[in-house]
Amino acid sequence: MYNLLKGKKGIIFGALDEKSIAWKVAERAHEEGAEFVLTNAPIALRMGQLSKLAEKTGAQIIPADATSVEDLTNLVEKAMEILGGKLDFVLHSIGMSVNVRKGKHYTDPKYDFTTKGWDVSAVSFHKTMNVLYNKKAMNEWGSIVALTYMAAQRVFPDYNDMADNKAYLESIARSFGYFFGRDHKVRVNTISQSPTPTTAGQGVKGFDGFISYAEKMSPLGNATALECADYTITLFSDLTKKVTLQNLFHDGGFSNMGVSDRVMEHFIEE
Ligand SMILES: NC(=O)c1ccc[n+]([C@@H]2O[C@H](COP(=O)([O-])OP(=O)(O)OC[C@H]3O[C@@H](n4cnc5c(N)ncnc54)[C@H](O)[C@@H]3O)[C@@H](O)[C@H]2O)c1
Repeated sequence: MYNLLKGKKGIIFGALDEKSIAWKVAERAHEEGAEFVLTNAPIALRMGQLSKLAEKTGAQIIPADATSVEDLTNLVEKAMEILGGKLDFVLHSIGMSVNVRKGKHYTDPKYDFTTKGWDVSAVSFHKTMNVLYNKKAMNEWGSIVALTYMAAQRVFPDYNDMADNKAYLESIARSFGYFFGRDHKVRVNTISQSPTPTTAGQGVKGFDGFISYAEKMSPLGNATALECADYTITLFSDLTKKVTLQNLFHDGGFSNMGVSDRVMEHFIEE
């Protein structure tokens, strides 16, 4: 490994199990010399695999519902106490649509579910940055990353209201990123990741067809969770100090494709 994060301190949201993108980021950050606190919603902690990761990476766990400013304030204060100073990196790896979970179609959602999913998946990023910004919790040249998906720009019918949540999330990254850059020299970016077989990913209807379509469409194939973690590490490192306000596609080239030979094969009539 390269010691890319040696001496850096951070918070990692959203590791649920070994498949989670955040889980891989924590493992890679540990390998690169970072110290961090792990957090997830209290209910996810009760489902209980995170302690395994905490043990492996020497991290402490602080529960926080990312929709609660009170929880987030406690999290940031405790993290700075535990880590002995300000933070250099934060990963927001959180997504959940109640409409998807309850099988409500995009054209006929339950709007209470829409609001809840928007709060968890998008506004939680604003709330997190609000607490970090106002507590001056980030070191200069720190880096904040949230994970997103290309349904924010293009139509993927079964992604449901998560498409709208991701568009909102990406906009928050730009808007808050301006103030964070101007006032604290902190960068804020989103990584737009390939479909990935995790708990959140597999919750999307038709996921198997969808992931294999993306695989065939992308010249480099889909990016795995571990590859996403590697990319995230570069954004936390000092090698990307002037990258900010960006939505960065990490998808094997999918986002710039029209059609590929491997997809065409399915449509050529003999
Ligand atoms: N899996 C994919 O195909 C894919 C593709 C692109 C982007 N993403 C994004 O990557 C991120 C991580 O998802 P993942 O695929 O690793 O799945 P995951 O299910 O492992 O992670 C989602 C996490 O969100 C957490 N969460 C939900 N509600 C919360 C709350 N109120 N407070 C705090 N945490 C809460 C869950 O406990 C879980 O740890 C999400 O933003 C997701 O939308 C996933």
